[in-house]
Amino acid sequence: MAKPIQSALIGQKFMGRAHSNAFGQVAKFFDLPRPPALHTVAARDGAELAAFAERWGWANHTTRWRDVAADPEIELVDVATPNHVHAEQSIALLEAGKHVACEKPLAGTLADARAMRAAAKRAAKKGRKTFVWFNYRRAPAIGLAYRLIREKRIGRVYHVRATYLQSWGGPGTPLVWRFQKKHAGSGAHGDLNAHIIDLARFLTGEEIVEIHGAVSRTFIQSRTIPGTRRKGRSDVDDAVLFLASFKGGAVASFEATRVAAPHQNANSIEINGEKGSLRFDFEDMNLLRFHDASDGDREGGWRRIMCTSAGNHPYAEAWWPDAHILGYEHGFTNMLADVCRVIARKKPELPIPDFEDAYQTQRVLEAALLSARNRTAVKLSEVR
Ligand SMILES: NC(=O)c1ccc[n+]([C@@H]2O[C@H](COP(=O)([O-])OP(=O)(O)OC[C@H]3O[C@@H](n4cnc5c(N)ncnc54)[C@H](O)[C@@H]3O)[C@@H](O)[C@H]2O)c1
Repeated sequence: MAKPIQSALIGQKFMGRAHSNAFGQVAKFFDLPRPPALHTVAARDGAELAAFAERWGWANHTTRWRDVAADPEIELVDVATPNHVHAEQSIALLEAGKHVACEKPLAGTLADARAMRAAAKRAAKKGRKTFVWFNYRRAPAIGLAYRLIREKRIGRVYHVRATYLQSWGGPGTPLVWRFQKKHAGSGAHGDLNAHIIDLARFLTGEEIVEIHGAVSRTFIQSRTIPGTRRKGRSDVDDAVLFLASFKGGAVASFEATRVAAPHQNANSIEINGEKGSLRFDFEDMNLLRFHDASDGDREGGWRRIMCTSAGNHPYAEAWWPDAHILGYEHGFTNMLADVCRVIARKKPELPIPDFEDAYQTQRVLEAALLSARNRTAVKLSEVR
């Protein structure tokens, strides 16, 4: 029996649940060279933690995350805490010799992201790996799009059109950490644009070289402080839109918002190329739309590909028969399967972003904010 990867998780709320589910499921569906073992969960709320650990199968629990760093049995730590603590926790964990899988965005600020990237570089010399939970890369439809682009089925890329539209951030939503710059870094931008920048870079395999213009808007500046009737200031954006270009000359538009009712989790990307186009919308996450220009004008149009065919679509063989469709949680489980493979020195099904990769996405986030603030174009070469 292969030696399990003793793993720990920090954070026990939204991502804590999504990741715990993946840790519990992954070895049941994937044949892994080394499966994970659920060693310890750490989070701040001691009152809830014991029940959380029992429900999700974590053997131990602690309110002191540094216990996890100090425990020599633990190899992999999953950081699922708010953005402002990613750097402190990830750097300490890497220095303690752990592999680290951190939630996105890599950090709230570019300076934190830069420090994390440097720590990852130092740790890599000792064989430590880093991973960032850009989970949408792990939808089989995105994986198929990635492969079709590598097979040159859409040829030269002309346009990338990416939008991530949500609607939960209206005036009735309280001042949770996501609306506070000191905790989140930014609002819809770091939360949602981070995902679609990552998808655009991943799919095209190209870097963004310039932001041509951007607009950032905070529509709701005052929100109720949770558990009180008092109001506090929301100092992050509710929406950020920007235009960009890629190294190969393709142009791109990105749009992230938390106030686009009735969209709920409308993460979509369309790529138009010389020989064809691709389109993905997370709310129909099992489908990839593919247009092959060689079909001609008479019969051309969007093909609707159900990406659940074992052997044809990434990760599909681990799951269910054709069109017995996958959901949100499968992206995390698929990613964890690849994390376990990489730690066991095997190839992942699809490339996983590490801290270096996520740092490049963070630079794009920063460049767009600078562009909005200064009302100018910003070259990525100016943002280091
Ligand atoms: N990949 C995705 O699609 C996705 C979706 C949602 C959130 N996220 C990211 O996941 C991270 C967590 O978001 P969430 O929605 O789970 O937040 P959340 O508020 O639901 O949970 C945060 C957890 O972190 C714990 N925590 C906070 N500060 C801590 C500290 N200093 N030490 C230890 N624990 C601490 C809290 O107790 C809580 O358990 C964020 O970086 C967010 O951007 C990613």
